[in-house]
Amino acid sequence: MGVVRPPHPPKRVPLIGDIIGLDAVKPMQNTARILGEIGPIYQRRILGMRLTFVGGADIAAEVNNDATWQKAVPRPLQLLRPIAEDGLFTAYNDEPNWHKAHAILAPAFSQASMRSYHQTMADVVDEMCRAWDDASGNFDVADEMTKFALETIGRCGFGYRFDSFTRADVDPFLPALKDSLGYIQAQGVPVPGRKIIDALTGRTGQHQRNVEYMFQVVDDVIADRQAHPHDEPRDLLDLMLTTKDPETGEQLDARNVRNQILTFLVAGHETTASALSFALYLLATHPDEAAKARAEVDALWPADDVVRFEDVAKLRTVRRAIDETMRLWPTSPGYFREAKRNTVIDGQYPIKQGQWLMVVLQQVHRDPAVWGADADQFRPDRFQSEEVRARPGHGYKPFGTGLRACIGRQFAYHEMILALATILHRYNFTVDPDYTLEVAEQMTLKPSGFRLTVTRRERKDASAPSPAQ
Ligand code: HEM
Repeated sequence: MGVVRPPHPPKRVPLIGDIIGLDAVKPMQNTARILGEIGPIYQRRILGMRLTFVGGADIAAEVNNDATWQKAVPRPLQLLRPIAEDGLFTAYNDEPNWHKAHAILAPAFSQASMRSYHQTMADVVDEMCRAWDDASGNFDVADEMTKFALETIGRCGFGYRFDSFTRADVDPFLPALKDSLGYIQAQGVPVPGRKIIDALTGRTGQHQRNVEYMFQVVDDVIADRQAHPHDEPRDLLDLMLTTKDPETGEQLDARNVRNQILTFLVAGHETTASALSFALYLLATHPDEAAKARAEVDALWPADDVVRFEDVAKLRTVRRAIDETMRLWPTSPGYFREAKRNTVIDGQYPIKQGQWLMVVLQQVHRDPAVWGADADQFRPDRFQSEEVRARPGHGYKPFGTGLRACIGRQFAYHEMILALATILHRYNFTVDPDYTLEVAEQMTLKPSGFRLTVTRRERKDASAPSPAQ
């Protein structure tokens, strides 16, 4: 008997494989759709290469098991290595710098550490709102959230100000980063002759110049901090420059510090920005849910606009709206796992040691076996504790799984809750009724072309009920 293989998409072409139906523009949404049509697992074969995708919560639970599986760093992640090398996100599991950096940085991402970032985050939210007040109040949501999240990680992480909301022009680091990520993303899609075209059109050269420029900026930030150290650690950079790995007694070297800074800039901004953008879209199009979240915020801050550190953990309705947003639209659309030894998944498909596959979160998060018949609906109350307790935990993994799950999870929650609560508190918003959700794919999934119009709320009487929109 031959090897049992997972189903494949229709229209397989002899020798070439499953080339028909590939979508270079929206590959993840296409993959999620195929999983919805042909089952919880499928395999695409292209020129002898086999790519396996998992969308069922039960199979995802099997491959999340760290005893048999671990994070994989296949080509889509390897493409980032020229920028981030052995930084936390792109490190291979056995690279010593992963263990060192994880041990040094994990305490900086604990819930308690958020206190030290809180005021900086609140300042950035405030700057963003002031910029909206000064402008017409109509803006592209993904653009604004991207500026916000990058500014936040830049300042909280390394004391670097892009001044996204205050300077008239744009910090040259931003187009360099955006252009590089676009270039890297494009390399992941197999287009015949791309290398030659990119070289001839100057795109490759531009990319190299962008990367050199970013290295230079980050190296200057590191050198400046080394020359003017703070008395005690204030941010991630201080920690990286002063803390010793408890196991080896070693510090991170300057090159690895640069890798981590670029990693945090890449991993820590688009993910958060996209999740906030989807949350604003879903709340703007579900006024009843927006009203619930506003009522919670208004009850907490009847008189002023000052979000205290302690308040953030109390905003359970806002948190539920964010959790439900990341369920429906996991902005990090999936993660890769590789088998540590020969195994079998779904009781029938043999997997060889070293073979990798992708967990497709958009499907796992909508698996009706976990989420019920209304899995496609935006219903934040499904994150009420009774419902959470009644559900298996493996159906929800927006921050990945196991040892290599997101180190920035608490940071992202604190930042998103703070921003969303402040926006709900200060503004009513309206969305163009003709807009239909268009989801773009870059490193993350994000709403494209989605604009909001915001107007300052009049809050004369603190005890008065708040308007729904
Ligand atoms: C809503 C926001 C975010 C989402 C959805 C998200 C999602 C994820 C996911 C799914 C992974 C696992 C990737 C894998 O297994 O290959 C991951 C890893 C990581 N994330 Fe996040 N992330 C978010 C915010 C952040 C922030 C704010 C930071 C930094 C400040 C950050 C830094 C990292 C790093 C360094 C890793 C690699 C961890 C390791 O392998 O040790 N992320 N993230």
